[in-house]
Amino acid sequence: MKRLLISAALLIAAITPLKADEGMWLPALISERISHMQSHGLRLSAEDIYSVNQACLKDAVVLFGGGCTGELVSAEGLLFTNHHCGYSYIQKHSSVEHDYLKDGFWALSRTEELPNPGLTVSFLERMEDVTSIILKGYKPGKMDEAQRVKIVKKNTEKLVKEAEKEGNGLKASVEALYYGNQYFLFVFREYRDVRLVGAPPSSIGKFGGETDNWMWPRHTGDFSIFRIYADSNNMPADYSEANVPYTPKKFLKISRAGVNEGDFTFVYGCPGSTQEYVHSAAVDYIANVSDPEKIALRTTRLGIMKKYMDGSQKVRIQYSSKYAGVANAWKKWQGEEKGLKKMKTVEVKKEYEKRFSAWAKGTEYEGITDNLAAIYEERNSIYRAYEYYRETVLTIERLRIASGKSFDMKDYYEPIDREMFVAMMTAFDKGLEDSYKPDYFLQKRAQYGSMEAWRDAVFASNEEAKALSDALEAYFNGPILSKVRSLSESLDLVYRDYMRAQMEFEPNKAFYPDANLTLRVAYGHVEGYSPADAIYYRPVSTLKGIIEKDNPDIFDYNIPQTLRDIYARGGFENQPVCFLATNHTTGGNSGSPVLNAHGNLIGINFDRVWEGTLSDLDFDPDVCRNISLDVRYILFIIKEIGHAAYLFDEMCFED
Ligand code: ARG
Ligand code: GLU
Repeated sequence: MKRLLISAALLIAAITPLKADEGMWLPALISERISHMQSHGLRLSAEDIYSVNQACLKDAVVLFGGGCTGELVSAEGLLFTNHHCGYSYIQKHSSVEHDYLKDGFWALSRTEELPNPGLTVSFLERMEDVTSIILKGYKPGKMDEAQRVKIVKKNTEKLVKEAEKEGNGLKASVEALYYGNQYFLFVFREYRDVRLVGAPPSSIGKFGGETDNWMWPRHTGDFSIFRIYADSNNMPADYSEANVPYTPKKFLKISRAGVNEGDFTFVYGCPGSTQEYVHSAAVDYIANVSDPEKIALRTTRLGIMKKYMDGSQKVRIQYSSKYAGVANAWKKWQGEEKGLKKMKTVEVKKEYEKRFSAWAKGTEYEGITDNLAAIYEERNSIYRAYEYYRETVLTIERLRIASGKSFDMKDYYEPIDREMFVAMMTAFDKGLEDSYKPDYFLQKRAQYGSMEAWRDAVFASNEEAKALSDALEAYFNGPILSKVRSLSESLDLVYRDYMRAQMEFEPNKAFYPDANLTLRVAYGHVEGYSPADAIYYRPVSTLKGIIEKDNPDIFDYNIPQTLRDIYARGGFENQPVCFLATNHTTGGNSGSPVLNAHGNLIGINFDRVWEGTLSDLDFDPDVCRNISLDVRYILFIIKEIGHAAYLFDEMCFED
């Protein structure tokens, strides 16, 4: 009997994951996960995380700008986010006399805080399952998809209008989850007077630059500080001197206790997009076609930019932001491709589809995976063309300028663009069959005989540039895009059934909806990883590592002299900087609060390790790690570099 009990206990231990890892959970449904979270160390209740009746952690988290997360850290509307999330605003305030990007910025009083027209932050008021309301009037089997779309649209409009009735900055939206098997209403309150309070110099906030991006060991001080302002009723208002600091329902206490390997952590934020439940054919395309091809095309572009940037300080500044944009996804895809191949995600999915198909035989889901495979078969070549346009000819700046699109000529360097023209036109021409190119392109190609001759004509004549741009755009926006759209619609339709079927196939599995920039909770623990044989990465980096990387001759590693001086004074060798954890995050989670078991702030999420970026499609617990800035490094920089320790007066420390 005893033996039986022991083996039963072992069995339970074997099927319940030992580690809290994969998943981005809806806060409103967190009660379904709470005991699992608690068994991994959480000391809070579901109501502490999400509640509509009492102040809770969700009230301290905001969607920052269009695609980042931020968190409240004082009773007076003070907010933390990433440096790379605040970057464009810091840049707009910068000039030759006040280079806040280079030197950092610290408001010494409230009156020095800088307004940012256009920047908004949104608090989630509530979210709720509205599936039955949205699908009211829809009769499955009796109506076609177009009728369903119409009904969903009508019901959504009504619901949104109702939810926004109060005004006062309320913004509502209905989001489809699980490919439209479920609909949730999200009601946000959007504040639009958000001011810059502080930012470290880029040599700290962007330390490591592109070299260290997506990498560990990491030492980037990736934070900036803002403050939300409201009218005298604490409601959203346009910028006005009369506005007062916003009083949040809840703000985060800061923990200075530090992190240790194994500690429970959770991340509260707005992940942008994942595709965890797609067919093997989708992964096959990404791992074996899309990622490798796009990486190669971007390698060419980056090489051209770098050559000119290395030769001129002025060009480096002009192109650094563009370079960063191109390099970011380029590096991510490399990790994704490698990870998907290592995990054999395609094979594993095929195996799963075999088991699924056997189960689906004789049900309404019979043949569904074959159906998906057939649509992908048709879609992949046109989708490849779509991606090729975007990664080649549509990146040529001369064509964008000629087409009259908004373009900052201040950041234009023609020799780069001339070389880019030849490289991208050649790649486009070689990479795609002629059937994907407009007739204009084929005629001109014959007429000029070489890309160099064509380039000279395009750079000499705005008309010639505009004609080419118009032809390419028309073909891209016409035949290519419309086909891509209609095939995506067909896919989504089948996915709606496939998603539901997968949930029926594995009724005991906990499914989380793919990310769609709605608020989520991910949880895990502080942990290092092994990126390759014989290497183990410890999960915490320190100031010592910054000094080791410091090199005045390398732009990415040239730290401010004051930081060198502070270090030389001694006592800061073990100052923590960043840490790794197993939380499942993605783009959009930048700036998200990283919380300890008590819900106190221990860090700010800003990146993942590149070996783990396959987590957008397949979570590998061995290498999927999010990278956070240790909150103690933020405090250190505020005090030692910003001389802005007065900000601590309004913060609340747990210890
Ligand atoms: N990899 C991070 C993210 O995906 C940081 C990007 C900004 N930093 C950079 N060096 N490009 O957003
Ligand atoms: N840096 C990303 C962001 O801006 C987060 C990195 C990721 O997890 O993709 O959201």
